[in-house]
Amino acid sequence: MKIIMLGAPGAGKGTQAKMIAAKYNIPHISTGDIFRANIKNGTELGKKAKTYMDAGQLVPDSLTVDLLMDRISKEDCAGGYVLDGFPRTIPQAECLEEALKSRNEAVDYAINVEVPDSNIVKRMGGRRACVTCGATYHIVHIPPKTEGICDKCGSELILRDDDKPETVEKRLKVYHDQTKPLIDFYSEKGVLKEVDGTQDMKAVFEDIVKILGA
Ligand code: AP5
Ligand code: MG
Repeated sequence: MKIIMLGAPGAGKGTQAKMIAAKYNIPHISTGDIFRANIKNGTELGKKAKTYMDAGQLVPDSLTVDLLMDRISKEDCAGGYVLDGFPRTIPQAECLEEALKSRNEAVDYAINVEVPDSNIVKRMGGRRACVTCGATYHIVHIPPKTEGICDKCGSELILRDDDKPETVEKRLKVYHDQTKPLIDFYSEKGVLKEVDGTQDMKAVFEDIVKILGA
């Protein structure tokens, strides 16, 4: 099962993708998490990606596409995967399409988690992310057991640099300009599914399971 998560920054793509990965036993692949791991490890890729991410802009396709193609060619992806944060532009979607076509494969579901912009800025200020394992929390909706500490691995939780309100506004603009056209792209392919992302996270997941099958 090859699944793509679509939606604005903060719509809950990562939250739902992790639940999908656990239930259907497929890898969760987040380009954002891969870039953040590279930033943390001080790699060349991380240094380059950080300048774009901190400004709320997209990392150029030249740094993103090969990285993702390499990841989905790994053995653990043979039975499918859930992509979170990729594709984010029409050229990225076309590259994915070509790569899959050469193997007689295609995207099975593109799930759009719909949340209005007005909800997004509020959510982002409350998000806390684990610097080590990438787990995400929300100080009100999904708090960790101990404030500031990851339940899963015990590392420190941080407010992402790009979650400051002024950067969130920029990310939303980039989303509308460059990523939202993917909704029509996947609708035309007949694989688009919509879920209401303003519900609580369990209700959103129930809707996704209805789409994917139990
Ligand atoms: P990325 O890490 O992908 O960020 P994003 O798309 O902006 O999305 P977020 O991770 O911010 O939100 P999310 O939808 O995953 O929401 P979450 O589940 O955390 O990318 C970061 C940057 O990397 C980009 O800006 C770009 O620069 C670069 N990048 C990455 N991929 C790229 C690509 N392919 N091409 C180019 N550049 C790329 O939820 C948000 C908060 O809400 C959390 O606190 C969560 O706990 C809470 N929450 C979740 N669901 C609910 C709910 N139902 N009700 C209430 N609260 C909820
Ligand atoms: Mg995310």
